[in-house]
Amino acid sequence: MTITRRNFVTQGSALLSAAGLKLPVWSALAKGNSKGASTAERPLLLGVDYYPDQTQERLWEEDARMIAEAGLTNVRVAEFAWSLMEPAEGKFDFAWLERAVKILHQHGIAVILGTPSAAPPPWLSEKYPEILLVNSQGMTVHPGGRRFTCPSNKTYRRLSLTIAGQMAKTFAQTPGVIGWQIDNEFTLQPFARCYCNSCREGFQEWARRKYGTLDALNQKWGAAFWSQIYTDWKQIPVPLPSNGEPNPGLALDYYRYQSYANASSAEEQGAMLRRECPQHLITTNSVGAPYDALNMRELFKNMDFVSQDNYPGFLQMYMGGESSAGSAGLLPAIGFDSMRCAKGGKPFLIMEEQAGKAGQSFFAPQPRPGELRLWAFQAVAHGAMGVNYFRWDSAKFGAEEYWHGLLNHDRSKSLGFDEIVQTVKDMKALGRDALESSYVAEAAVSLDTDSDWALGLQPGNSKLSYTAQLMSWYGSVASAKTGVDLVRLDDDLTRYKAVFAPVQYVVTEKQAESIRGYVRSGGMFVAGFRLGVKGESSQIVDKPLPGLLRDVMGVTLNDYVPLYWGKPGVKFGAELPGPDGTTQLWADLLKPETALVLARYTGEYEGEAAITVNHFGKGKAVYIGADLDTMSLARVLRTFLAMSGSNSLFGAPAGVEVTRRNAGGHNWIFVLNHSDKSEKVTLPGRFKSVLAGSALDGSLELKPYEIAVLQPS
Ligand code: GAL
Ligand code: ZN
Repeated sequence: MTITRRNFVTQGSALLSAAGLKLPVWSALAKGNSKGASTAERPLLLGVDYYPDQTQERLWEEDARMIAEAGLTNVRVAEFAWSLMEPAEGKFDFAWLERAVKILHQHGIAVILGTPSAAPPPWLSEKYPEILLVNSQGMTVHPGGRRFTCPSNKTYRRLSLTIAGQMAKTFAQTPGVIGWQIDNEFTLQPFARCYCNSCREGFQEWARRKYGTLDALNQKWGAAFWSQIYTDWKQIPVPLPSNGEPNPGLALDYYRYQSYANASSAEEQGAMLRRECPQHLITTNSVGAPYDALNMRELFKNMDFVSQDNYPGFLQMYMGGESSAGSAGLLPAIGFDSMRCAKGGKPFLIMEEQAGKAGQSFFAPQPRPGELRLWAFQAVAHGAMGVNYFRWDSAKFGAEEYWHGLLNHDRSKSLGFDEIVQTVKDMKALGRDALESSYVAEAAVSLDTDSDWALGLQPGNSKLSYTAQLMSWYGSVASAKTGVDLVRLDDDLTRYKAVFAPVQYVVTEKQAESIRGYVRSGGMFVAGFRLGVKGESSQIVDKPLPGLLRDVMGVTLNDYVPLYWGKPGVKFGAELPGPDGTTQLWADLLKPETALVLARYTGEYEGEAAITVNHFGKGKAVYIGADLDTMSLARVLRTFLAMSGSNSLFGAPAGVEVTRRNAGGHNWIFVLNHSDKSEKVTLPGRFKSVLAGSALDGSLELKPYEIAVLQPS
């Protein structure tokens, strides 16, 4: 039997568990998934996104040669080439792509093909205008860009599946083809959701499957309010503007439906690819938290691995002068962690990695020397198994002329070219074991689409945002450098020393059970304000807040208060020593039942409890009722993390990240200097710097943007 990834994992894990050993966590998830290309056949995925569809054919040979000479092992092609592959409905032309693939293969470059549904050709939108997305204001989006399509529309889905199916049949046996990217970036806020008639019908059908009867639906949505009792499934609307806020239950369900519609259209293509090309890998690319309007677990459920697009310089441009060394790495980091955790910690691929100045009508500056290397290694430090750079050359036409690739417009090598070549070389030197190892996280932060979406619909305070809360909680916890996973609270939490839940507005019965079990067995659960206000159907819980978690938290709420003016103070008790803080946008006023008070409000809510801790079973549950200022939040969350026994052994300043991956008893420590200064890190003992080949004893000095990979020696 040939050794495929799947049977390696299945059989290997049986052998290892018989020997009392454990495979990395992610391997368990690979069971039951398709086999994909075998590890032996599949190169490390260190490549580029390549556009033969936008390049004169006479240059393909030279491109392939240069890509190979740069040490790159794979390309992704054709994800926007629908109009060339199907110039008229039902007329297919893959000859050009077959020629391109052949040339690439002759140079030893493996190919990931993209199915082209993200950008249907003009003939299609002209003939079937009903495929166009209707935005949240009820306006039909025009063709001419991309992602202008409705995820529910049957014609669009049929034609997407047809072109993907024709590609699959054509390339199933083509040497060099190793896998598929389905579509391209399924949803990207804020244009993600469609509100058209096809979606309305799809939503009605989805709701019928979910609720079974109209009575159940009317009850769960509380349709009696504003006379919304539905007597026919066909009456159910989509939450378009209606001179009044939508029903919160309906609206939350609609977001869930939109996620489902996108995920199921990916799944449709995925299932077809599995049938036609059982030996190929299947994935799709996403941007990751905090930007996606899709439930990533749902999207990637049946795919082989997660792919992510990573543009740190572009993000920095948006952050402007705000980005300090400490925060520069934060946005990419949360993206990586969310993508890794979308598939249980399994190594993921960077499908698009910034290669130069990045942008459309305006663009980010050329990355400074060392940054391209830092950014790519940051992905690996967070669990990536490979990196594909966006893009090989720089287009001389089209909306992304200014998205700079490894080659300049005149095809000379870009300023970052050599740095990328060296980075790829070093990743190869690091090897497959390291690139496919597991990320180690001692802490977890809840990433909850329900709370995100429900709070987006009803922020309470107009300035309150799930994303901002998530970012500051994540940033505070990540700054401890003991590794963070982004989890759902109904996951198995027992492997974490502490679990943090910012604005967990929706808490389901299952999540409450899971938290209760986790704390009872010794875990440290730290929750923010607005905890457990709503249940699955977005109705307010019918118990005193924090609802289902009242016993675990040992408090009830005296009141909850959005803050618009003035910032009440927060005075910390002896257990949380530090300067007084303030609460910004919100104050939950806590009434301890069995909990102890750790901080109180001053000023307007003088004396009310702001932070409490409850001893529950063998563990502790902390309620942070205040929306603490950034400094206080970081200090307080890190104090609780340390109390849980999670402390980094590495002494690194704010701008230096430290992460760990391991496999089969081996550890790799990634140390990344995000600052523009040299930084010193203290090490707990002797280490080998794997890429530099040097020995280190107790300390390490990193130049600006420098990275090191260490192994204990
Ligand atoms: C990604 C997208 C690519 C390209 C790139 C640069 O979001 O998948 O197709 O547009 O950004 O804008
Ligand atoms: Zn639609």
